Amino acid sequence: MDRIRIKGGNRLKGEIPISGAKNSALKLMAASLLTDEPVTLKNMPRLADIEAMSDLLMQFGMNMNIRRGAGLGQSDTMRLHAAKIESAFAPYDIVRKMRASFQVLGPLLARHGEAKISLPGGCAIGARPVDFHLKGFEAMGASIELADGYVLASAKGGLKGTTFEFPFASVGATENLMTGAVLAEGRTVLKNCAREPETQDLGNFLIAMGAKISGLGTSEIVIDGVDRLSGATYSVMPDRIETGTYMIATAIAGGDVELVGAQASSNGALIAMLEKIGTEVKETNRGLSVHRNGVRPSAMDVKTDVFPAFPTDLQAQYMALMSIANGTSHIRETVFENRFMHVPEMARMGAKIHVDGDVATVTGVETLKGAPVMATDLRASVSLVLAGLVAEGETIVNRVYHLDRGFERLEEKLSGVGAEIERQQA
Ligand code: UD1
Repeated sequence: MDRIRIKGGNRLKGEIPISGAKNSALKLMAASLLTDEPVTLKNMPRLADIEAMSDLLMQFGMNMNIRRGAGLGQSDTMRLHAAKIESAFAPYDIVRKMRASFQVLGPLLARHGEAKISLPGGCAIGARPVDFHLKGFEAMGASIELADGYVLASAKGGLKGTTFEFPFASVGATENLMTGAVLAEGRTVLKNCAREPETQDLGNFLIAMGAKISGLGTSEIVIDGVDRLSGATYSVMPDRIETGTYMIATAIAGGDVELVGAQASSNGALIAMLEKIGTEVKETNRGLSVHRNGVRPSAMDVKTDVFPAFPTDLQAQYMALMSIANGTSHIRETVFENRFMHVPEMARMGAKIHVDGDVATVTGVETLKGAPVMATDLRASVSLVLAGLVAEGETIVNRVYHLDRGFERLEEKLSGVGAEIERQQA
């Protein structure tokens, strides 16, 4: 199994191209099932999760081609064409690897009238049920049965518009229901919706396909069903979690880095935090530039929450930063239970962190020490890489497949700005 070796201590200088957003790209791919016409997706990231979604979509009869970008910063363009849905079965072996596979339920029900989908796996960050998705589809007239780890969903006469309020502003449930409602009969009003930028990106893509949607980016989304959707060409938004990760990398290691293609508007909460603790972030005509001099960042509390608050997907990275900050901070995780699995690994590197329920108390230390570490989920793994950038000596991050799910060419991007980091093939 591949691993990543980092020798800490280098300041970062130069530019990093930001890839298209994984969490948008996966949903746009699934939504491409909604039309029998070809769809072209630009600015696609090259990631293991994208391959997993491609494998799944091909099982349904989707025809796919990729035009590869030549080098770093040159994204892929994907053409997807589901002329006919040949099967609506999503097997456990594919779905367990990636929870976002469950997002095919809405498009399949809407276009095909039935689907059999394995209950999802994904990152080990808590129970992560899909009850909101299923209740929402039931409210739209689908019949849902659970048997042997599978969801059997059927809406033979088509989904029907309804009013449904999510108990929590779930990203996946909002997006799944949106992709069902676009072809439903009549009007669907979704309340307490996710307002995440990726959810808006999906909505804009559906509008480009001919869907009638209003209220994107607010808690109430109104969708008037149409009879059919057409093909479209759409460019995936920049990845705000990758952007935030490299902003924090620069804040940890110190230096000057321009994030080319990055967007300030989707990273407001992190930018505000970084500025308070001594890292400058400025908009440039190509993206964002991040600067920190040699002074240690100051400690500051943070609480994760739904957008526009601080994202849970940057919590582990922010904890790496706080572990070398001047002072003590409290990090509260409100979106997922059990999302502190990086803590024991960071402790192996000398971080002082105490977890009590949903709060981690981090007492900043002057230096971390390199160590062999292992990560259990995507964002946790990258937080260990960030800690390695500033640790004394060598850090080896094992189980790199987690990183490959969501960070395109991480080691190339970081070594391009002066970090000593390499992939060691097993
Ligand atoms: C998406 C993102 C993930 C991010 C998360 C929160 C993708 C592929 N993944 O995940 O990176 O961390 O949003 O921003 O886009 N819940 C239920 N029942 C449900 C659905 C969710 O109880 O039916 C709970 C979950 O267990 C969790 C919370 O709601 O505690 C938020 O989950 P949700 O917003 O649905 O996250 P995902 O869509 O899975």
